[in-house]
Amino acid sequence: MTVQLTPLHPLFAAEVSGIDLRQTPGPALCDEIHRAMDRYAVLVFRDQQLDDDQQMAFGSALGPLEQTRGVVDVHKQRLKHQQMADISNIDLDGKLLGADDRRRMFNLGNQLWHSDSSFKATPAKYSMLHARVVPPEGGDTEFADMRAAWDALPAKMQAKIRDMVTEHSLIFSRGQLGFTDYTEQERRDFAPVPQRLVRWHPGSQRHSIYLSSHIGRIVGWPVPEAMALIRQLLEHATQRQFVYAHHWRQWDLVVWDNRSTMHRARPYEDHTYPRDMRRVTLTDVAPTLEQQMAA
Ligand code: OGA
Ligand code: MN
Repeated sequence: MTVQLTPLHPLFAAEVSGIDLRQTPGPALCDEIHRAMDRYAVLVFRDQQLDDDQQMAFGSALGPLEQTRGVVDVHKQRLKHQQMADISNIDLDGKLLGADDRRRMFNLGNQLWHSDSSFKATPAKYSMLHARVVPPEGGDTEFADMRAAWDALPAKMQAKIRDMVTEHSLIFSRGQLGFTDYTEQERRDFAPVPQRLVRWHPGSQRHSIYLSSHIGRIVGWPVPEAMALIRQLLEHATQRQFVYAHHWRQWDLVVWDNRSTMHRARPYEDHTYPRDMRRVTLTDVAPTLEQQMAA
């Protein structure tokens, strides 16, 4: 079977048609999906009426799943699969999260540009987000192509940042919104991890800027100077020409490569409307500092 790909943006992102993911793809189809991911970095599969088990099976067919989630209030999780991330505003009893619920405050961090699990020693490879219930307006997800952003940097800046090492933590990203309310256990779980600032993406043979709002330091740099540079890079990398905005329909499944893109949630009226999205996430092979950097 050969899938059809329709580009959604001049640089990256494509819609895939001709597949029903209720049947778990075999190795040949998975290879095609990996090749399309290497080229496009974001793939949109429309009208995929999957349940949790089918979504998990699709993820597992593409590679090893992440085993832990970066969440607060881990005892209040709604979904039956431990490895599935609940990207919703819905509580255990099916009601909308209260205005001052800690989980809601924490989840607002998704509105900052980030790469999933960059705060883990071995970060995420692909994320697969499935729309079960979408609000009538708002709640888009935006993606930015970090390979194109790298290519567009002046050579002098490329040389300057090429070997930099950053430190990432959920505490840094949430701190930007003023969220500081952690248990001692969460503080230990969210301790900063080092990552390369520039990565090599083997599937496309291109470099990417490995940016994320989880960054709070550049190793060896004074914090304000580091964060001014990170902010400058974030602004560069999220210029509109690098961004694809996805407007969700129910049953969309969007797969993105966290090694070569950033993303952010856009606001919606979450006191009024439910938004039920569920994410299965593939783990990368190793910490970025242990991954090969092309010559
Ligand atoms: C995610 C995420 C954005 C959104 O699932 O990792 O950041 O729009 N989601 O819900
Ligand atoms: Mn995310």
